Amino acid sequence: MTPMPVTHSAAVALLALVVAAPTLAQQPDQSAAYLAANCANCHGTQGRGAGAMPSIAGQNKEYLVEQMRAFRDGKRPATVMQHLAKGYTDAQINLIAEHFARQPVR
Ligand code: HEC
Repeated sequence: MTPMPVTHSAAVALLALVVAAPTLAQQPDQSAAYLAANCANCHGTQGRGAGAMPSIAGQNKEYLVEQMRAFRDGKRPATVMQHLAKGYTDAQINLIAEHFARQPVR
């Protein structure tokens, strides 16, 4: 059987990515930082409120989890958050809330 160069180089590329990833990460928990990046556009870098947008940095973790669930379940009226919150599982909401609770308020 002949060797499979494509698969091999793909494996090498994947390995390079895995090796490089910790260097690129700014937060210790990469998956939380990745999920939280989706919120920065509106809530500001690291959740520190930009303008009229509510600041979510340094908020109580339980509060953040409750708000996200309330948005998702339609219990808290919102303009955009009810749509966004539907995209996350409970586990992801936990990670995101933990991440923002750890961010300095300013
Ligand atoms: C498109 C802009 C936008 C994005 C993206 C966004 N938000 Fe929001 N967020 C809002 C707005 C606007 C509100 C005020 C409620 C509303 O009208 O939806 C809000 C409110 C909140 C609140 C309530 C704050 C409080 O003080 O009670 C939380 C918590 C929150 N967002 C978390 C998040 C998280 C976590 C993400 C990322 C997964 C995120 N938001 C992404 C616009 C956004």
